Amino acid sequence: MQSSAPIGVLDSGVGGLSVLKVLHQMLPQEKFIYVGDTARTPYGSRSETEIRQFVEEIISWLEGQGVKQVIIACNTLTMLGIDSLQKEHPFELVGMSKGEQLLLVASRKKKIGVFATQFTISTEAHKKAILAVDDSAEVYPMACPKFVPLIEGEQFDSSQIAEAVAEYAAPLKEAGIDALILSCTHYPFIKDIVEAEFGAGVTVIDPAEATAQTAKASLEVNNLLSTDGEGSVAICCTADLERVKRLAGRMLPAACCEFREISLVP
Ligand code: DGL
Repeated sequence: MQSSAPIGVLDSGVGGLSVLKVLHQMLPQEKFIYVGDTARTPYGSRSETEIRQFVEEIISWLEGQGVKQVIIACNTLTMLGIDSLQKEHPFELVGMSKGEQLLLVASRKKKIGVFATQFTISTEAHKKAILAVDDSAEVYPMACPKFVPLIEGEQFDSSQIAEAVAEYAAPLKEAGIDALILSCTHYPFIKDIVEAEFGAGVTVIDPAEATAQTAKASLEVNNLLSTDGEGSVAICCTADLERVKRLAGRMLPAACCEFREISLVP
């Protein structure tokens, strides 16, 4: 495996671009290949069998591109278990951080909210991770199924998004949380709306930075960090290239990105 090989980053759609943004800033000399399965998003309300098949198709496609690492920039897919996705692949897979340490530092009252997809919330993984560090914490998980279709549909200024944020926030505000994690990589696209809804007393955490740090540390340990040459970003999607370009513009400077529509199955 060569350090000059690209890094794969994947998601069900455009959400993982919020992680790619942080990765590109942290590792500017790396070549990134992003895959968003925009033809089949959202994954969060689908069955486990179905999303396992989809993610395996994406990982195999990235393997064909000769990647040295794959970042699962999707909390829903991370919930399937990184070990079970690893299989015989010759590169390391890195999943999304659950952010439990960051949350417990940020939350003085130890009342913590979790916004995520239905699938992620049903696993209770974030709640368990927080309680494993501090069993006195109170965790308030909230499935937010309306968010991904509205974000993929670029409905940022719509009344639907404002109403959905208010609806999902209400029980958590009532519970008196003071820290909230955005445990779906799509949600950083609406972080400002969520922050405005909760107000200054609630710290809203995006686990992208912690995830990127883990990816970097793993490359370092395996002597795979690219330390010279120019980095690049290729953004591939399975549908709606023009929409993906517009959404990518919210996360990355368009000038540094190359865009491609791909087919995952030959
Ligand atoms: N962006 C994804 C996540 O982090 C999944 C969204 C979806 O496809 O439902 O969970």
